[in-house]
Amino acid sequence: MGVDPPAALGRDLVLELVRVTEVAALAAGRWIGRGDKQSADQAAVDAMRLVLDSVSMSGVVVIGEGEKDEAPMLYNGEAVGNGTPPEVDMAVDPLEGTRLTSLGQPNAIAVIALSERSTMFFPGAAVYMDKIATGPELAGAVDITAPPAENVRRAAKAKGVSPSSITAIVLDRDRNQELIEELRACGATVNLITDGDVAPAIAAARSEETGVDLMMGIGGTPEGVIAAAAAKCLGGSVQGRLWPRTADERQLLVDGGYDPDAVLDTDDLVGGENVLVAASGVTDGTLLKGVRYGAERAETDSIVMRASSRTVRRVQAEHSLEKVARFAALVTG
Ligand code: FBP
Repeated sequence: MGVDPPAALGRDLVLELVRVTEVAALAAGRWIGRGDKQSADQAAVDAMRLVLDSVSMSGVVVIGEGEKDEAPMLYNGEAVGNGTPPEVDMAVDPLEGTRLTSLGQPNAIAVIALSERSTMFFPGAAVYMDKIATGPELAGAVDITAPPAENVRRAAKAKGVSPSSITAIVLDRDRNQELIEELRACGATVNLITDGDVAPAIAAARSEETGVDLMMGIGGTPEGVIAAAAAKCLGGSVQGRLWPRTADERQLLVDGGYDPDAVLDTDDLVGGENVLVAASGVTDGTLLKGVRYGAERAETDSIVMRASSRTVRRVQAEHSLEKVARFAALVTG
Protein backbone atom coordinates (compact mmCIF):
# COMPACT_ATOMS: atom_id res chain seq x y z
CA MET A 1 0.00 0.00 0.00
CA GLY A 2 1.42 3.40 -0.95
CA VAL A 3 1.43 6.60 1.01
CA ASP A 4 -1.91 8.36 0.82
CA PRO A 5 -2.10 11.67 -1.02
CA PRO A 6 -1.52 14.77 1.11
CA ALA A 7 -5.21 15.58 1.56
CA ALA A 8 -5.67 12.30 3.42
CA LEU A 9 -3.81 13.48 6.53
CA GLY A 10 -6.61 15.77 7.11
CA ARG A 11 -9.12 17.73 8.96
CA ASP A 12 -10.89 14.90 10.70
CA LEU A 13 -7.71 13.22 11.81
CA VAL A 14 -6.39 16.31 13.55
CA LEU A 15 -9.54 16.45 15.67
CA GLU A 16 -9.28 12.75 16.44
CA LEU A 17 -5.75 13.39 17.68
CA VAL A 18 -6.80 15.99 20.17
CA ARG A 19 -9.06 13.41 21.82
CA VAL A 20 -5.95 11.32 22.31
CA THR A 21 -3.95 14.04 24.05
CA GLU A 22 -6.98 15.11 26.09
CA VAL A 23 -7.43 11.68 27.63
CA ALA A 24 -3.72 11.39 28.35
CA ALA A 25 -3.76 14.81 30.04
CA LEU A 26 -6.89 13.95 32.05
CA ALA A 27 -5.30 10.70 33.23
CA ALA A 28 -1.98 12.33 34.15
CA GLY A 29 -3.80 15.27 35.74
CA ARG A 30 -4.95 13.04 38.58
CA TRP A 31 -1.31 12.66 39.59
CA ILE A 32 -0.33 16.33 39.67
CA GLY A 33 1.65 17.14 42.80
CA ARG A 34 1.52 13.64 44.22
CA GLY A 35 5.26 13.01 44.00
CA ASP A 36 4.90 9.88 41.87
CA LYS A 37 6.14 10.45 38.34
CA GLN A 38 6.00 6.79 37.33
CA SER A 39 2.30 6.51 38.08
CA ALA A 40 1.61 9.80 36.32
CA ASP A 41 3.44 8.57 33.23
CA GLN A 42 1.80 5.14 33.34
CA ALA A 43 -1.67 6.67 33.58
CA ALA A 44 -0.99 8.86 30.55
CA VAL A 45 0.50 6.01 28.52
CA ASP A 46 -2.40 3.64 29.29
CA ALA A 47 -5.01 6.23 28.43
CA MET A 48 -3.30 7.33 25.23
CA ARG A 49 -2.79 3.74 24.09
CA LEU A 50 -6.45 2.86 24.58
CA VAL A 51 -7.77 5.78 22.55
CA LEU A 52 -5.17 5.55 19.79
CA ASP A 53 -6.63 2.35 18.43
CA SER A 54 -9.89 4.12 17.66
CA VAL A 55 -8.12 6.69 15.46
CA SER A 56 -8.60 6.23 11.71
CA MET A 57 -5.05 5.57 10.64
CA SER A 58 -2.43 2.93 10.18
CA GLY A 59 0.29 4.28 12.44
CA VAL A 60 3.76 3.13 13.42
CA VAL A 61 5.37 4.54 16.55
CA VAL A 62 8.74 6.03 15.57
CA ILE A 63 9.19 8.08 18.74
CA GLY A 64 7.66 6.27 21.68
CA GLU A 65 8.35 5.03 25.14
CA GLY A 66 11.51 3.18 24.13
CA GLU A 67 12.49 -0.34 23.15
CA LYS A 68 9.82 -3.02 23.03
CA ASP A 69 11.23 -5.11 25.87
CA GLU A 70 11.36 -2.21 28.29
CA ALA A 71 8.18 -0.47 27.18
CA PRO A 72 5.08 -2.64 27.26
CA MET A 73 3.12 -0.03 25.32
CA LEU A 74 3.77 2.63 22.72
CA TYR A 75 7.17 1.12 22.05
CA ASN A 76 9.14 2.10 18.97
CA GLY A 77 7.83 0.13 16.01
CA GLU A 78 4.42 -0.64 17.58
CA ALA A 79 1.45 -0.48 15.20
CA VAL A 80 -1.34 1.84 16.37
CA GLY A 81 -4.64 3.07 14.96
CA ASN A 82 -7.58 1.16 13.52
CA GLY A 83 -5.55 -0.01 10.51
CA THR A 84 -7.29 2.08 7.87
CA PRO A 85 -5.35 4.55 5.68
CA PRO A 86 -3.50 6.86 5.91
CA GLU A 87 -0.18 5.21 6.69
CA VAL A 88 1.66 7.43 9.13
CA ASP A 89 4.69 7.75 11.39
CA MET A 90 3.93 8.77 14.92
CA ALA A 91 5.76 10.47 17.74
CA VAL A 92 4.07 10.21 21.11
CA ASP A 93 4.88 11.66 24.47
CA PRO A 94 1.88 10.84 26.64
CA LEU A 95 3.42 12.84 29.46
CA GLU A 96 6.16 15.27 28.56
CA GLY A 97 7.32 16.47 31.96
CA THR A 98 6.79 13.53 34.30
CA ARG A 99 8.70 15.22 37.11
CA LEU A 100 6.96 18.55 36.49
CA THR A 101 3.66 16.75 36.93
CA SER A 102 4.68 14.89 40.06
CA LEU A 103 5.97 18.13 41.62
CA GLY A 104 3.03 20.24 40.43
CA GLN A 105 5.28 22.49 38.33
CA PRO A 106 4.35 24.27 35.09
CA ASN A 107 4.57 23.21 31.44
CA ALA A 108 3.80 19.49 31.49
CA ILE A 109 1.87 18.45 28.39
CA ALA A 110 0.56 15.39 26.57
CA VAL A 111 1.61 15.52 22.93
CA ILE A 112 1.36 13.53 19.73
CA ALA A 113 2.75 14.23 16.25
CA LEU A 114 2.02 12.49 13.02
CA SER A 115 3.54 12.61 9.56
CA GLU A 116 3.25 10.48 6.44
CA ARG A 117 5.00 7.12 6.58
CA SER A 118 8.81 7.05 6.60
CA THR A 119 9.26 10.77 7.07
CA MET A 120 10.14 10.95 10.79
CA PHE A 121 13.72 10.83 12.02
CA PHE A 122 14.42 7.78 14.16
CA PRO A 123 17.01 8.80 16.78
CA GLY A 124 18.40 5.30 17.40
CA ALA A 125 20.97 5.41 20.20
CA ALA A 126 21.00 9.21 20.32
CA VAL A 127 19.49 10.11 23.67
CA TYR A 128 20.46 13.78 23.52
CA MET A 129 20.59 16.45 20.91
CA ASP A 130 21.77 20.04 20.93
CA LYS A 131 18.82 22.11 19.70
CA ILE A 132 17.77 25.57 18.73
CA ALA A 133 14.07 26.13 18.15
CA THR A 134 12.41 29.32 17.07
CA GLY A 135 9.44 30.81 15.25
CA PRO A 136 8.80 32.08 11.70
CA GLU A 137 10.28 35.53 12.37
CA LEU A 138 13.69 34.17 13.40
CA ALA A 139 13.77 30.87 11.52
CA GLY A 140 16.11 32.19 8.82
CA ALA A 141 18.30 34.13 11.25
CA VAL A 142 19.62 31.50 13.65
CA ASP A 143 22.24 28.85 13.00
CA ILE A 144 23.17 26.14 15.48
CA THR A 145 26.79 26.20 14.30
CA ALA A 146 27.15 29.88 15.25
CA PRO A 147 28.14 30.96 18.79
CA PRO A 148 25.15 31.65 21.10
CA ALA A 149 25.95 35.38 21.26
CA GLU A 150 25.89 35.56 17.48
CA ASN A 151 22.48 33.89 17.40
CA VAL A 152 21.15 36.36 19.95
CA ARG A 153 22.58 39.25 17.94
CA ARG A 154 20.97 37.94 14.74
CA ALA A 155 17.67 37.32 16.51
CA ALA A 156 17.70 40.82 17.96
CA LYS A 157 18.49 42.31 14.54
CA ALA A 158 15.71 40.31 12.84
CA LYS A 159 13.23 41.54 15.45
CA GLY A 160 14.58 45.09 15.54
CA VAL A 161 15.18 44.95 19.28
CA SER A 162 18.21 44.90 21.59
CA PRO A 163 19.72 41.57 22.75
CA SER A 164 18.25 42.13 26.22
CA SER A 165 14.80 41.83 24.66
CA ILE A 166 15.57 38.32 23.42
CA THR A 167 14.29 35.57 25.69
CA ALA A 168 15.84 32.14 25.50
CA ILE A 169 14.62 29.09 27.40
CA VAL A 170 17.28 26.58 28.40
CA LEU A 171 17.16 23.30 30.34
CA ASP A 172 19.07 23.80 33.58
CA ARG A 173 21.71 21.09 33.22
CA ASP A 174 25.49 21.03 33.73
CA ARG A 175 25.91 20.25 30.06
CA ASN A 176 24.19 23.58 29.22
CA GLN A 177 26.16 25.76 31.67
CA GLU A 178 28.52 27.21 29.07
CA LEU A 179 25.58 28.11 26.84
CA ILE A 180 23.76 29.74 29.75
CA GLU A 181 26.81 31.83 30.64
CA GLU A 182 27.37 32.92 27.04
CA LEU A 183 23.71 33.89 26.65
CA ARG A 184 23.78 35.91 29.86
CA ALA A 185 27.06 37.58 28.91
CA CYS A 186 25.57 38.89 25.68
CA GLY A 187 22.60 40.33 27.52
CA ALA A 188 19.87 37.87 26.59
CA THR A 189 17.18 37.00 29.10
CA VAL A 190 17.63 33.36 30.06
CA ASN A 191 14.71 31.47 31.52
CA LEU A 192 15.89 28.21 33.02
CA ILE A 193 13.60 25.21 33.14
CA THR A 194 14.03 22.07 35.20
CA ASP A 195 12.37 19.71 32.68
CA GLY A 196 10.18 19.61 29.61
CA ASP A 197 11.62 21.38 26.59
CA VAL A 198 8.84 20.56 24.10
CA ALA A 199 6.32 23.12 25.36
CA PRO A 200 9.00 25.89 25.35
CA ALA A 201 10.03 24.91 21.80
CA ILE A 202 6.42 25.25 20.67
CA ALA A 203 6.15 28.47 22.67
CA ALA A 204 9.18 29.84 20.79
CA ALA A 205 7.35 29.17 17.53
CA ARG A 206 4.50 31.32 18.88
CA SER A 207 6.60 34.13 20.27
CA GLU A 208 4.03 36.89 19.81
CA GLU A 209 1.68 35.08 22.13
CA THR A 210 4.25 33.69 24.57
CA GLY A 211 7.17 36.15 24.60
CA VAL A 212 9.62 33.28 24.10
CA ASP A 213 12.08 33.76 21.22
CA LEU A 214 14.39 30.77 21.40
CA MET A 215 14.62 27.36 23.01
CA MET A 216 18.27 26.38 23.11
CA GLY A 217 20.55 23.73 24.53
CA ILE A 218 21.02 20.01 24.91
CA GLY A 219 17.89 18.02 25.67
CA GLY A 220 16.19 14.84 24.53
CA THR A 221 16.41 13.81 20.88
CA PRO A 222 12.84 12.44 20.73
CA GLU A 223 11.60 15.76 22.08
CA GLY A 224 13.52 17.49 19.27
CA VAL A 225 11.60 15.48 16.66
CA ILE A 226 8.27 16.40 18.25
CA ALA A 227 9.31 20.06 18.40
CA ALA A 228 10.26 19.88 14.70
CA ALA A 229 6.81 18.53 13.83
CA ALA A 230 5.25 21.49 15.63
CA ALA A 231 7.67 23.88 13.91
CA LYS A 232 6.53 22.54 10.54
CA CYS A 233 2.95 23.37 11.43
CA LEU A 234 3.80 26.82 12.75
CA GLY A 235 6.39 27.95 10.19
CA GLY A 236 9.17 27.89 12.78
CA SER A 237 12.38 25.90 12.76
CA VAL A 238 14.31 23.39 14.82
CA GLN A 239 17.96 22.73 14.16
CA GLY A 240 19.66 19.90 15.96
CA ARG A 241 22.94 18.12 16.32
CA LEU A 242 23.18 14.75 18.04
CA TRP A 243 25.08 14.91 21.32
CA PRO A 244 26.60 11.53 22.18
CA ARG A 245 27.55 11.35 25.85
CA THR A 246 30.55 9.08 25.46
CA ALA A 247 32.97 7.86 22.80
CA ASP A 248 31.16 4.51 22.86
CA GLU A 249 27.82 6.15 22.24
CA ARG A 250 29.35 8.14 19.41
CA GLN A 251 30.71 4.95 17.87
CA LEU A 252 27.32 3.28 18.25
CA LEU A 253 25.78 6.12 16.29
CA VAL A 254 28.41 5.92 13.57
CA ASP A 255 27.92 2.13 13.35
CA GLY A 256 24.18 2.76 13.03
CA GLY A 257 24.77 5.02 10.02
CA TYR A 258 24.35 8.36 11.82
CA ASP A 259 26.69 11.31 11.38
CA PRO A 260 26.97 12.80 14.90
CA ASP A 261 28.37 16.05 13.52
CA ALA A 262 25.66 16.66 10.96
CA VAL A 263 23.25 19.54 11.44
CA LEU A 264 19.69 18.26 11.23
CA ASP A 265 17.20 20.87 10.15
CA THR A 266 13.42 20.80 10.55
CA ASP A 267 12.96 18.82 7.33
CA ASP A 268 15.60 16.26 8.33
CA LEU A 269 13.75 15.69 11.58
CA VAL A 270 10.31 15.56 10.00
CA GLY A 271 10.17 15.37 6.20
CA GLY A 272 7.17 16.20 4.05
CA GLU A 273 4.50 18.81 4.53
CA ASN A 274 1.88 16.44 5.76
CA VAL A 275 2.25 16.83 9.51
CA LEU A 276 -0.26 17.03 12.35
CA VAL A 277 0.41 17.84 15.99
CA ALA A 278 -1.88 17.89 19.01
CA ALA A 279 -0.93 18.84 22.57
CA SER A 280 -2.98 19.20 25.76
CA GLY A 281 -1.87 20.93 28.95
CA VAL A 282 -1.40 18.81 32.05
CA THR A 283 -0.08 21.52 34.37
CA ASP A 284 -0.45 25.25 33.66
CA GLY A 285 2.17 26.61 31.29
CA THR A 286 3.18 29.40 28.94
CA LEU A 287 1.53 27.63 26.06
CA LEU A 288 -1.46 25.81 27.55
CA LYS A 289 -3.59 25.74 30.66
CA GLY A 290 -3.42 22.60 32.76
CA VAL A 291 -6.25 20.19 33.45
CA ARG A 292 -8.91 21.59 35.81
CA TYR A 293 -11.13 19.29 37.82
CA GLY A 294 -14.48 20.57 39.05
CA ALA A 295 -17.18 18.73 41.01
CA GLU A 296 -18.78 17.25 37.92
CA ARG A 297 -16.64 18.25 34.99
CA ALA A 298 -13.02 18.49 34.00
CA GLU A 299 -11.62 21.04 31.56
CA THR A 300 -8.75 20.63 29.13
CA ASP A 301 -6.90 23.15 27.00
CA SER A 302 -5.28 21.92 23.78
CA ILE A 303 -3.63 23.14 20.61
CA VAL A 304 -3.92 21.28 17.32
CA MET A 305 -2.01 22.14 14.21
CA ARG A 306 -1.84 21.02 10.63
CA ALA A 307 1.20 21.79 8.49
CA SER A 308 -0.45 21.54 5.07
CA SER A 309 -3.01 24.25 5.84
CA ARG A 310 -1.05 25.93 8.66
CA THR A 311 -4.26 25.97 10.65
CA VAL A 312 -3.77 26.26 14.39
CA ARG A 313 -6.74 25.58 16.63
CA ARG A 314 -7.16 26.03 20.35
CA VAL A 315 -9.56 23.49 21.74
CA GLN A 316 -11.07 24.12 25.15
CA ALA A 317 -13.09 21.09 26.17
CA GLU A 318 -15.29 20.15 29.09
CA HIS A 319 -15.50 16.49 30.02
CA SER A 320 -18.05 14.88 32.24
CA LEU A 321 -16.27 13.36 35.22
CA GLU A 322 -18.60 10.41 35.01
CA LYS A 323 -17.30 9.72 31.50
CA VAL A 324 -13.71 10.22 32.66
CA ALA A 325 -14.28 7.72 35.50
CA ARG A 326 -15.82 5.15 33.12
CA PHE A 327 -12.87 5.59 30.85
CA ALA A 328 -10.38 5.22 33.74
CA ALA A 329 -12.09 1.95 34.70
CA LEU A 330 -11.60 0.70 31.16
CA VAL A 331 -7.92 1.61 31.23
CA THR A 332 -7.23 -0.06 34.55
CA GLY A 333 -9.38 -3.03 33.52
P1 FBP B 1 10.34 13.23 31.14
O1 FBP B 1 10.59 12.12 30.17
O2 FBP B 1 10.56 12.85 32.54
O3 FBP B 1 9.00 13.81 30.91
O4 FBP B 1 11.42 14.37 30.84
C1 FBP B 1 11.39 15.02 29.62
C2 FBP B 1 12.60 15.93 29.46
O5 FBP B 1 12.66 16.94 30.46
C3 FBP B 1 12.58 16.56 28.08
O6 FBP B 1 11.71 17.63 27.92
C4 FBP B 1 14.02 16.91 27.87
O7 FBP B 1 14.32 17.05 26.49
C5 FBP B 1 14.71 15.73 28.51
O8 FBP B 1 13.79 15.19 29.47
C6 FBP B 1 15.98 16.09 29.22
O9 FBP B 1 16.60 14.93 29.68
P2 FBP B 1 17.39 14.84 31.06
O10 FBP B 1 16.38 15.03 32.17
O11 FBP B 1 17.98 13.48 31.06
O12 FBP B 1 18.40 15.92 31.05
